[in-house]
Amino acid sequence: MFEKLNAIPPDPILGLIAAYAADPNPKKIDLGIGVYRDEAGNTPMLDCVVEAEKILLRTQTTKTYLGPRGVPGFNQAIGETILGKDNEVFKQNRVRTVQTPGGTGALRVAADLVKVTRPETELWASDPTWANHLALFPGAGMAMHSYPYFDAENSSLRFDDMIAALQQRGPGDVVLFHACCHNPCGVSPDPEQWQAIANLAGERGFTPMIDIAYMGFERGIEEDSLCIRLFAEQCPEVIFASSCSKNFAMYRERVGAISVIAGNAEKADAVESVIHNVTRKNYSMPPAHGPAVIDIILHSEELTAQWHVELAGMRNRINGLRKTLSEKIAAAGIQRDFSFIQRQSGMFSFMGLTVEQVHRLRDEFAIYTVNSSRVNVASFNEGNMDYFIEALAVVLDE
Ligand SMILES: Cc1ncc(COP(=O)(O)O)c(C=O)c1O
Repeated sequence: MFEKLNAIPPDPILGLIAAYAADPNPKKIDLGIGVYRDEAGNTPMLDCVVEAEKILLRTQTTKTYLGPRGVPGFNQAIGETILGKDNEVFKQNRVRTVQTPGGTGALRVAADLVKVTRPETELWASDPTWANHLALFPGAGMAMHSYPYFDAENSSLRFDDMIAALQQRGPGDVVLFHACCHNPCGVSPDPEQWQAIANLAGERGFTPMIDIAYMGFERGIEEDSLCIRLFAEQCPEVIFASSCSKNFAMYRERVGAISVIAGNAEKADAVESVIHNVTRKNYSMPPAHGPAVIDIILHSEELTAQWHVELAGMRNRINGLRKTLSEKIAAAGIQRDFSFIQRQSGMFSFMGLTVEQVHRLRDEFAIYTVNSSRVNVASFNEGNMDYFIEALAVVLDE
């Protein structure tokens, strides 16, 4: 069976993690892996999660299967958090949310759902997009294309080019968006631009699919889910894949959900039946622990309030680091303009370095980042930022 099989090279980010771990340099910095870090470089559990876990341990009576929907209270609460409790689509009974193993699982189920519904559907994603999108959708058998998004020269959004490209899309096409904190480029449309994109989706009739993996990390829960609410107003059908990995710091518990808004309640039921059918053939039942914890948090006023505070703490730290980093780079006399770091949001930004400069950072300074020079801003702290800026000046030859 495996005689002719050749090994697949590891994902570059995994290779980077291994090289970083093996590096004895005490000044080493890992800017590659995409997890939130606090000032001490740790990725701690949230207090609201620890509290809810205690409640769960006291109250849980069985580990029997959950059923294909997962934890119903989680599905309801996460859908309402993203869309807003009073959203018309709930009154019209047009939304179905099904828990999945992480946001990645949600995206895969979304791809399977589309493939089963309309096998010839093709998907358009921003250029660039999360590397795993590029593997996941073709892996599910979907043809994938890109639309213009990031202007590398100005580190900004190519909004007009994006709109011109999306004007070519129509019914039967799926267009993928990052709701906030774009991974990898850190650039998001502003509210007015989102409105124009949602209007276009309504006019042209393409189906928006939104990846919302960082809700609360950019400006706030409502602000970061704005595009989904706007699409819900303009389009009869919307698909969104949410993740609780980052905003609840539940990474390894694999908590996510696929939500679909359909044209009416009957079609929404049909969609849900197809989701259950595709997940049954894949992983059968979703995991219980993480969603049960989030169910407890989102159904407790006190724990929800605590979550909001902890989420704001992570967001403010990232935004603060962005400001400090861009100011310190300018103060260090580096001529190249890095002020975009402050204008962008979420954990990621491209530093605009060549592969050679990225390798020099790694080989000469033990500063690890992927070849595209995407950095995780949350990996900076008071102790390592100046060292990074010194190294940056050297590799930029300034
Ligand atoms: C853009 C984007 N989408 C989805 C995910 C999925 O996250 P997870 O499967 O860990 O919930 C990530 C995680 O890094 C991401 O960056």
